Amino acid sequence: MSVTLTADGSKTIYSEHFGEHYHSIFGAANESNHVFIEAGYSAVTADPVSVLEIGFGTGLNAWLTLHQADRLQKVTRYEAIELYPIDNASVCELSEHDLFRSLHAAPWEQPVEITSCFVLYKRKSDLLQTAFTSSFDVVYFDAFSPAVQSEMWGRDIFASLYAAMNPGAVLTTYCAKGDVRRTMQSVGFTVERLPGPAGKREMLRAGKI
Ligand SMILES: C[S@@+](CC[C@H](N)C(=O)[O-])C[C@H]1O[C@@H](n2cnc3c(N)ncnc32)[C@H](O)[C@@H]1O
Repeated sequence: MSVTLTADGSKTIYSEHFGEHYHSIFGAANESNHVFIEAGYSAVTADPVSVLEIGFGTGLNAWLTLHQADRLQKVTRYEAIELYPIDNASVCELSEHDLFRSLHAAPWEQPVEITSCFVLYKRKSDLLQTAFTSSFDVVYFDAFSPAVQSEMWGRDIFASLYAAMNPGAVLTTYCAKGDVRRTMQSVGFTVERLPGPAGKREMLRAGKI
């Protein structure tokens, strides 16, 4: 894996194994803010709020959520699934900020209070084998694309996420593919196509009514 600078000055990682960047090269922070914070976290009124992230990766989505939680003084429980945690050298290259590094240093499989508003619960597990015992108000669906990891975008996965979501909850993703939208609809989601971040025409937001 190698750390890369993106067009808005924020950093991401390129995975040689999957042949994809963790975020858009048109702007990692811009994409995370647009797809997950604005269209996801900010679209629900639940307070306290329970967030699930598929693919913790660089921790950027968690980092931006932590800031939003602190700004709004909204207690946020943030559960993140990750099968392949990034190495320490990459964490250090991504940011010098102690709080950012504390997201990565937090132990796995237990809730950890990072700030008074942000509790992180990282699970080192395979999404394909994961059962959810909590219920969620927001889901950040940030897997690698269907082109390289089609198994992450299957009907069973979306059905289990739908079952784990509270009424009124939303799931957002950068992906706007018709197949993905139809799979979401087939398990009960109401799906909107929203304008995408820089470099992408559209994104999806799926709601559980
Ligand atoms: C697009 S990146 C996520 C970017 C991340 N949200 C961030 O803010 O940096 C996709 C992530 O899914 C993880 N992943 C791949 N296969 C997985 C699996 N079967 N179960 C859980 N996580 C997986 C990858 O290791 C990678 O961190």
